[in-house]
Amino acid sequence: MNLPHERLPRVRTNPRWQGTTCLLCGREYGPGDRVFVCGDCGVDGILDVRLDLEAVRRDLPADDPFGVHPAGGMWRFAPLLPVAPEAAHHCWTLGGTPAVEAGRLAAHLGLAGLVIKDDTGLPSASLKDRAAALAIAHAVGLGIDHLACASTGNAAASLAVLAARAGLAATIFVPRTAPRAKLAQLLLHGARVIPVDGTYDQAFDLSIREIDRNRWYSRNCAHNPLLVEGKKTAALELAAALTDDFQGGDERLPDAVFVPVGDGCIVSSVGKAFGELKALGLIGRMPRIYGVQAAGAAPLAEGWRMAGPGAAEFLSRQVLAAIPRLVPRTLADSISVGIPRNRLKAWRNVARSGGGFLAVSDEAILEAIGLLAEKAGIFAEPSGAAGLAGVVAAREKGLISATDRVAVMVTGHGLKDPEAALGRVRIPDPVPPLE
Ligand SMILES: Cc1ncc(COP(=O)(O)O)c(C=O)c1O
Ligand SMILES: [Zn+2]
Repeated sequence: MNLPHERLPRVRTNPRWQGTTCLLCGREYGPGDRVFVCGDCGVDGILDVRLDLEAVRRDLPADDPFGVHPAGGMWRFAPLLPVAPEAAHHCWTLGGTPAVEAGRLAAHLGLAGLVIKDDTGLPSASLKDRAAALAIAHAVGLGIDHLACASTGNAAASLAVLAARAGLAATIFVPRTAPRAKLAQLLLHGARVIPVDGTYDQAFDLSIREIDRNRWYSRNCAHNPLLVEGKKTAALELAAALTDDFQGGDERLPDAVFVPVGDGCIVSSVGKAFGELKALGLIGRMPRIYGVQAAGAAPLAEGWRMAGPGAAEFLSRQVLAAIPRLVPRTLADSISVGIPRNRLKAWRNVARSGGGFLAVSDEAILEAIGLLAEKAGIFAEPSGAAGLAGVVAAREKGLISATDRVAVMVTGHGLKDPEAALGRVRIPDPVPPLE
C-alpha cells in the first residue's frame, strides 16, 4: 500500500488509554474496538474515553508535568490523549493559543477577573481544529487515508484544511441549505462535497452509513468519542497558563468557565479536562462549568431548567428524557442544534462541576460580539461569543458575583460570519474627498 500519509511522521497509541465506556449502560470497549456508539444502546449510547489516570499520575514528572513534546502545540498534553504523533507536522501541530486577561471587560462586567481563551487564531479559525488534528493523527495511526464528516460549518472547514495539509482525502456531507461561501472553502481545499437533499440531521445519518460502508475515518465529533479528547487541550492550555504550568497554585484559576454549546462536545471536553487535572492533583479545585446555548436552540438549558435543583443528580436515562428535541432557530449557526448528540456527556460533565446550562438571546449574543471586539480586541462569530453572553446573563442571575474570576472560551473567528457583525454596526456615509 502506498498511502500518501506514509510521508507523515508516525503516530503512537497512549499505553494509558484503556478504551471507551458507554455512558448509558456502562459497557466497556477496548482501545482496539472500532465502535463509535455502544452496540447495546445504539445512538444514545455515547462512548467516553477512559484513561488510567493513576498510571498517568505516576508517569508525570513533578517539576514539569507537561513539558515540550516533539509534535509541539497541543501535543504537550499527550499523556492525557489517546494517541499522539511522534513529530511535528503542519497538519496537526497547532494550539498554544492565548489566554488573555481582559481587565477592561472584567471591570465593565463587575468581575474580579476575566480571562479569555482565544481560539480564533487556529488554522481554520475555530477550536474545531483541535478535534480535526486528533482525527488526522488517529486516522494516520490506523492507516486510514480518507476522513469524512457531516457539517456545514467549522468542523467541515477544520477537516478540509488539515486533510489538505496532510495529503489525505476528505468527504463532507452537507445539507442542501449550506451557504455557498462555506462550500467554496471546502472545495478549494480539495474536499469532496456531497450535498444532501435534506436537513443537517439527514446529512449526518447518510455520512454515518457511508463511513461504515467505506471504512472511512469518522470526524463527526458527537459520534467519534476520541475527538472530545482533542478538544480538551483548549482547557488544559488554559489551566496551564493560569497556574504557571501547574507550579504556581490555584489563585488565578477561574471560579467559573463559560462555554458555547451546540452538540455539547466542547463543554464536555472542558469539564473532562479540569476533572482530570483535579484527579491528577495538578489543580486543587474544579471551576464550575456553564454551557451556554442560544435561546432558539437551547434543549440542554431548557431541560436543565425544567429539571430544577435535582438536575445534577439525574441518572443517564432521566437526563435523556429531560432534554426536549426541538427545531433550532438562531443566528448563531454553529450552535444551531435542536438535538445535541453529546447531550448526555455534556450534562454529566457540567453537573459534576457544580455549574449549569444557560440560554441567551440572539440580541445578547450580538451585544457580546461588540463587547469582545471593543473591550478585548477579539473578533468572534456569534457562536464564538455566546460564552461571553452567558457571563452577562449569569451576572444578572447572580450565578457569579463581583468577587469571581471567570473564564470564557471564544471558539470561532468573526470573519466566518461577517453578516452578523454587519448587523451590529452602521457604516458611516462617505465625506467628500479633497478637491
Ligand atoms: C464556533 C463554535 N463554537 C461552539 C460550538 C459548539 O460546539 P459543540 O458542538 O461541541 O457543542 C461550535 C460547533 O460547531 C462552533 O463551531
Ligand atoms: Zn450501552
